[in-house]
Amino acid sequence: MTRTRLLFAGADEYLATFVEAARTLPEIELLPYEPGLDLKGIDYLLMWRPVPGLAAALPDLKAVFCFGAGVERLLVNPDLPAHVPIVRMVEPGLTQVMTEYILWQTLRHHRRIWELEEAQAEGRWAPHWYPAAWDRPIGILGLGELGQAAARKLLDFDFPLRGWSRHRKDLAGVQSFAGAAELPDFLRGLQILICLLPLTPETTGILRAEHFALLAPAASLINAGRGGHLVEADLLPALDSGQLQAASLDVFSREPLPPDHPFWRHPRIFMTPHNASDTNPASGLREISRQISRHRSGLPLEHVADRQRGY
Ligand code: NAP
Ligand code: GLV
Repeated sequence: MTRTRLLFAGADEYLATFVEAARTLPEIELLPYEPGLDLKGIDYLLMWRPVPGLAAALPDLKAVFCFGAGVERLLVNPDLPAHVPIVRMVEPGLTQVMTEYILWQTLRHHRRIWELEEAQAEGRWAPHWYPAAWDRPIGILGLGELGQAAARKLLDFDFPLRGWSRHRKDLAGVQSFAGAAELPDFLRGLQILICLLPLTPETTGILRAEHFALLAPAASLINAGRGGHLVEADLLPALDSGQLQAASLDVFSREPLPPDHPFWRHPRIFMTPHNASDTNPASGLREISRQISRHRSGLPLEHVADRQRGY
């Protein structure tokens, strides 16, 4: 069997689990990147943060697999030759874990868990009222792989659902809004706004005061897209005035978030350190292996990022 050499320049903290998972795939030889490694004969690269000069130094490079779903960093990497396709990570483990995060946070906001936690901390018995799920409209910015998977699960709870994308979608139970012109109607009256967009020039700063003002009073925000989607300076005034009741943030304009950042200490912000979802080593490598065998047999790669579109 010809083994495919796959160069690993993914997130360092995942190296050990990927090496372990690769042992179950005899067709893949996973090579951790290290300076001085002989780069000849390496056809495929698995990369997250661009390693300066690496892609340009691979004479036989045929495709780059992005370690995650969001490819914005790779698309602006000047080292990547234009003819080399960049494949977004679309694999069941990543999708499943993001769906869990979205359900977890949506129910947290729907049931206003923080009120119960505060009451418990104070030893107060304080039952509270919350509306039925079918009276709580939710909107998902980005109805791609992750947005659609989350939508399907949220529908099981009977939340009225809207989705926003560039192209209109035909997804049972989801009211589809498409393009910038339909964004205000999408946002109007939403009680929970979820962001699962890619970061592009069009989507940068989309979570801002002007758009918060269109939501229902005391709406909730869940951002699992990218930090650049949120205008950070607009969030605290919206929370402090009660325009937004709470926010769940997984991604930030600076990561790691600096220790003195005011988000850390805000009682209505719940944060996770950019791990709403991660590529699963086993299912992620199986997906890469499937794509490589397609490619080797002359079939086109799937989920190739469009450099013009930016995702
Ligand atoms: P995807 O399948 O490419 O879906 C992207 C969606 O966004 C599509 O529905 C697309 O519309 C829509 N979109 C893009 N630009 C738009 C615009 N200008 N106006 C309206 N809609 C627009 O991507 P995905 O796999 O679902 O991943 C989405 C993002 O999630 C990633 O790019 C990444 O930023 C983020 N993410 C975060 C984590 C985390 O741990 N926090 C993990 C994974 C991914 P069309 O369908 O019409 O093209
Ligand atoms: C993580 O942020 C990803 O894009 O997969």
